[in-house]
Amino acid sequence: MCGIVGYLGDKDVKNVLIEGLKTLEYRGYDSAGVSIFNAGKIEKVRAAGKLQSLIDKIGSTGFDGSLGIAHTRWATHGKPTERNAHPHTVNKVSLVHNGIIENYMELREELVACGSVMSSDTDTELVAHLISKEVDSGKDLYEAVLEVKKKITGAYAVLVMSEDQPEEIIGFKCGPPLIVGLGEGEVVFASDVQAIAPHTKKVFYLEDEDVVLARKDDLKIFRESKKIDPVWTELDWSKQVAEKSGYEHFMLKEIFEQPRAFAAAIEPHINIERQSVVLKDIDVSLLKDIDRIFIVACGTSYYAGMYGEYVIEKLAGVPVELEIASEFRYKEPFIPSSSLVVVISQSGETADTLAALRLAKEKGAKVLSLCNTKHSTIDREADFKLYMNSGVEVGVASTKAFISSLGVMTLLATQLSKVHDRVPKEDEQSIVRSLLGLPSVMESVLAYDKFFAKAADDLKKFKGFLYMGRGTNYPIALEGALKMKELAYKHAEGYAAGEMKHGPLALIDEEILIFMLCPQDHLYEKTLSNLEEAKARGGYIVSVGTKGDEQLKSLSEHFLALPKGDFITNPILETIPVQLVSYHVAKALGCDVDQPRNLAKSVTVE
Ligand code: G6P
Repeated sequence: MCGIVGYLGDKDVKNVLIEGLKTLEYRGYDSAGVSIFNAGKIEKVRAAGKLQSLIDKIGSTGFDGSLGIAHTRWATHGKPTERNAHPHTVNKVSLVHNGIIENYMELREELVACGSVMSSDTDTELVAHLISKEVDSGKDLYEAVLEVKKKITGAYAVLVMSEDQPEEIIGFKCGPPLIVGLGEGEVVFASDVQAIAPHTKKVFYLEDEDVVLARKDDLKIFRESKKIDPVWTELDWSKQVAEKSGYEHFMLKEIFEQPRAFAAAIEPHINIERQSVVLKDIDVSLLKDIDRIFIVACGTSYYAGMYGEYVIEKLAGVPVELEIASEFRYKEPFIPSSSLVVVISQSGETADTLAALRLAKEKGAKVLSLCNTKHSTIDREADFKLYMNSGVEVGVASTKAFISSLGVMTLLATQLSKVHDRVPKEDEQSIVRSLLGLPSVMESVLAYDKFFAKAADDLKKFKGFLYMGRGTNYPIALEGALKMKELAYKHAEGYAAGEMKHGPLALIDEEILIFMLCPQDHLYEKTLSNLEEAKARGGYIVSVGTKGDEQLKSLSEHFLALPKGDFITNPILETIPVQLVSYHVAKALGCDVDQPRNLAKSVTVE
């Protein structure tokens, strides 16, 4: 949450910072600002609202300095107003911050008692006051930062500059990501490599408590106050630029990229000739000793984990406990050291998931990560790594990373089943064949885009949406409801269809749309009875089922046919219509599809 950028070099600082912020807007978009040197002074421009408001406000303003810092905000402390926008400047010091200062109340009281006057409601401003005080007492900026780091607790990635040292930027962090890139006579800091890659491929991922002192031709990194020789990473970056490529929204583009994303996720682990699964980079012998698996994640990744839970238990017979990361980390979980903890995170930076990973390692368990963002903190800290390989996902509501995760979860389940001698060879081959065939089937399912584009004006009138499914379709029902909430701000619930009679049936009337996931699988008859119960109470039925299912069709106002599948493939294909319905309803309601209100894509605070 919140994106920060800093630049020192000969390029136009304003442009570099604004272009950097554009790539980070997914991290927060309720206000933005920059501080850039101009005629030896720090000049600050901030605006409430999306980055475009800042761009409009800056207009053609010129800055002659060669360094600056910038921020795009997701509000934690204080409303999303210009007054609370970053950078925060106190006397000669200006800074941007991503995170939360936890001892904020105490620091504020102390500062106010000593006469400091606050000009915002943020926790960040306190850090600017503290550093400014140290600078005023004669310390240089680096010494001031070290002093202040002792006083603040919480999660932070900070970039700071001072009018007394107009040639340097200092970056430091504890928690949220901060990366520094070193180019020819230039240095770029950012929360994400996307803002750095256009300038240099040579990057360093700061560790917690690292402090970077950057000048144009000199970059020093300190760990526990000692200068270290950084290990630079060379970015493998084939210009994965975030462009809409003719689509109206990133989300729609990303939905349409799913066949490719899914293929890219599974192919590295499939031996095509033998039609077998070999999970790359995982010590398969380790999997043999595993007698329990925890899957821990948040949001959409959590629902991918739920699919994983069903598939692993069914194929491999290994008990799985699925956990919401923010609960797991505080419930004092019993994690035997013979467990494998699987953490799923598109961004690889979600604070709760990262904390769960650290807790699991502390307890002696091995951690396997499934991330989309390579070199993210979760990716770096896990013992074993798998990747979604979806390419950059910009839409705040996750789509292609989800579908890739379902593919990788199936491969993990298959690999586990092999080491536990559960799946006969022929079954492995049939799983592999059906996974490899899915991308082209997905292409045909994407044709429902046109159906939802047309139906959206009618569907948007419903007061509430109830998504139902059983077995592996249930996580997709939950994901469908989440998408509808995130994008269209409609009340939506995902329910295990068999649970309807224990409460949610009371919700149903003519103003409720029932989105029923009812493929012809082993639970088909039971799901159909649940559908009859919902229909009898007046619900408007949109169903997704197996091609040729006349019975389901006759019970539904709209019936969307999918090719015959099984408990592995049905949910993967159903994902596409549940995404498309939310996309089109949200669009018809005039909602901001790519940047829904109050949300951010990478949640680096608790
Ligand atoms: C945020 C995003 C969701 C995402 C969740 C978990 O809430 O808006 O789309 O599913 O974070 O993110 P992660 O990066 O850990 O998968």
